Amino acid sequence: MVCLGNICRSPIADGLMMKKVTENKLDIRVDSAGTIGMHAGNAPDPRMCQTAKSFGTPIDHLRSRKFIVEDFDRFDVIFAMDKSNLSNILKLARSEKDKEKVRLILNMSHPGKDLEVPDPYYGGEQGFIEVYNLLDKATDAILEKIKNNELI
Ligand code: 4NP
Repeated sequence: MVCLGNICRSPIADGLMMKKVTENKLDIRVDSAGTIGMHAGNAPDPRMCQTAKSFGTPIDHLRSRKFIVEDFDRFDVIFAMDKSNLSNILKLARSEKDKEKVRLILNMSHPGKDLEVPDPYYGGEQGFIEVYNLLDKATDAILEKIKNNELI
């Protein structure tokens, strides 16, 4: 799960996916990163932590890190939160195989629409709730695809 800072959108995508993978006893590695390293080592934004906790998916334990080229080797699928993240990740791709791994996450719940998860960083609480709800639906759709062997 990849966004810009790895403190708002991708940590909650990570937390939601991890929760669903664990609940379904799936042996799948879930992680998140940001395309900038500015917040590396930091916990998620307190507003995202608060919203996540209030909806039953605590993410306080997560720490920000920068996306690195080796992530193309460590993961089968890489989900970008918006088109800017997608483009930044694709710039690091070394091959067509790397590029094929990268997808816009909302195309899981809204196929073919190329929708973006809005960046809540500069807005109010409602933005964090909207991000949570969008990513809850997207991770449900990912889980279904995993179960139906349709993701990779
Ligand atoms: P995120 O949100 O990409 O969802 O983690 C942001 C976090 C930090 C900044 C921008 C967006 N920033 O400019 O520091």
